[in-house]
Amino acid sequence: MSRPTALVTGAAVRVGRAIALELAASGFDLLLHHRSRPDEIEHVAEGVRAHGGQAHVVAADLGTREGRAAVVDAARTAFGALNLLVNNASVFYPVAFDRIDDDEWDRVLEVNLKAPFVLCRDLLPLLRAADATRFGAPEEQHGVVVHLCDIGADRPVSGHAHYSVSKAGLVMLVRAMAVELSPAVRTVGVSPGQVAWPESYDEATRRALARRIPLGRVGAPEDVARLVRFLTMEAHYLDGVVIPVDGGLHARY
Ligand SMILES: NC(=O)c1ccc[n+]([C@@H]2O[C@H](COP(=O)([O-])OP(=O)(O)OC[C@H]3O[C@@H](n4cnc5c(N)ncnc54)[C@H](OP(=O)(O)O)[C@@H]3O)[C@@H](O)[C@H]2O)c1
Repeated sequence: MSRPTALVTGAAVRVGRAIALELAASGFDLLLHHRSRPDEIEHVAEGVRAHGGQAHVVAADLGTREGRAAVVDAARTAFGALNLLVNNASVFYPVAFDRIDDDEWDRVLEVNLKAPFVLCRDLLPLLRAADATRFGAPEEQHGVVVHLCDIGADRPVSGHAHYSVSKAGLVMLVRAMAVELSPAVRTVGVSPGQVAWPESYDEATRRALARRIPLGRVGAPEDVARLVRFLTMEAHYLDGVVIPVDGGLHARY
């Protein structure tokens, strides 16, 4: 039997890298997307191959129509069917509300919300062609989509209005896809809390945020990766939900 297939966007580092390697360890062939990290993505590709999987790589700016089309084309070239699409790539940086100009707003929404929609829409034929019975799913179910959301989609962090709105939209995309595309394509979301620090957070901010986490520690990219694997390979009756992986932080707000 051929191996299951997955596309992970933003797969060169951090959470995307962990998801790609977890899937490779679970027997997937991967299409690895990155934007600007040829060396890091090649290391991830080597890691996938070390698990016996195929690793295809595509570089693209998901903030452009051409970039999104390049990822779709690469998936069609690499695979005849897609078991899993993970929309992980994202832009995150603080800008005060009255300093977000039109171009900045558009760019964040394009990468964080429009790109996930376009990839899902244009890869539907590949997702519908996938065999999920190999994981024990009923035969009317085929591909799975996982959107990387954020616990901040419900309760925004000050200084990140464009990002928060994009992630709130992604939560709705999870639900909209579930009601319209299931049972053929099952859609779920994962909302990390603190699993990899943004570079913009200084030490004091990191310590203060970590203290608020009920489990008493920040998470790791691998915590998200294990949840993505479970959602894809085992959670055949979960659909249209967004699951926090945040050490309990969502309960604290
Ligand atoms: N880290 C956390 O604790 C946390 C918390 C809440 C939610 N999340 C969500 O979980 C996901 C992964 O988090 P992360 O911290 O690992 O993400 P990240 O490092 O901030 O970004 C992941 C990747 O997105 C890619 N990207 C950015 N702009 C792009 C563009 N215009 N076109 C294509 N790719 C672009 C980058 O690719 P290149 O590096 O190749 O340029 C980057 O490596 C994200 O969706 C994030 O919003 C994370």
